Amino acid sequence: MDYKELGLKAIEARKFSYAPYSKYNVGAALLCDDESVVMGCNVENASYGCTVCAERNAVFKAVSMGKRNFKAIAICGDKEQSLGNSMAFPCGVCRQVLREFSEDMDVIVVKDEEEQSLFTLKELLPNSFGGDNIK
Ligand code: THU
Repeated sequence: MDYKELGLKAIEARKFSYAPYSKYNVGAALLCDDESVVMGCNVENASYGCTVCAERNAVFKAVSMGKRNFKAIAICGDKEQSLGNSMAFPCGVCRQVLREFSEDMDVIVVKDEEEQSLFTLKELLPNSFGGDNIK
């Protein structure tokens, strides 16, 4: 699957976002090494701290299906609910969770159907801490 198509899957995943508090809908599409795509959305909670981001939901779904190696993740935030820069980069916690499984993956930040930008996880999380740092 090419990244353009993966980006469209992230937009599709966003439709299921449960964000009644922030009203900021996010979708993610995770491309696994077996070429399957696992989708996720943000799921909020009345107890705000229980909220889980779209990216982490996609990763945890994939891992619980036995998939641990990822090629790329596409993320689409909410242009309508953004101030200024409408690119929605993954939060720090999600970057760290992605790094746990695939340090060399690509991250595609999707603005809309037409526009997306490509980054590497290493660019977004340099000098990262991982399992290889623990004896
Ligand atoms: N959110 C994500 O889903 N992914 C991110 O990387 C950043 C933030 C969600 C969490 C919350 O539901 C909403 O966006 C506003 O923070």
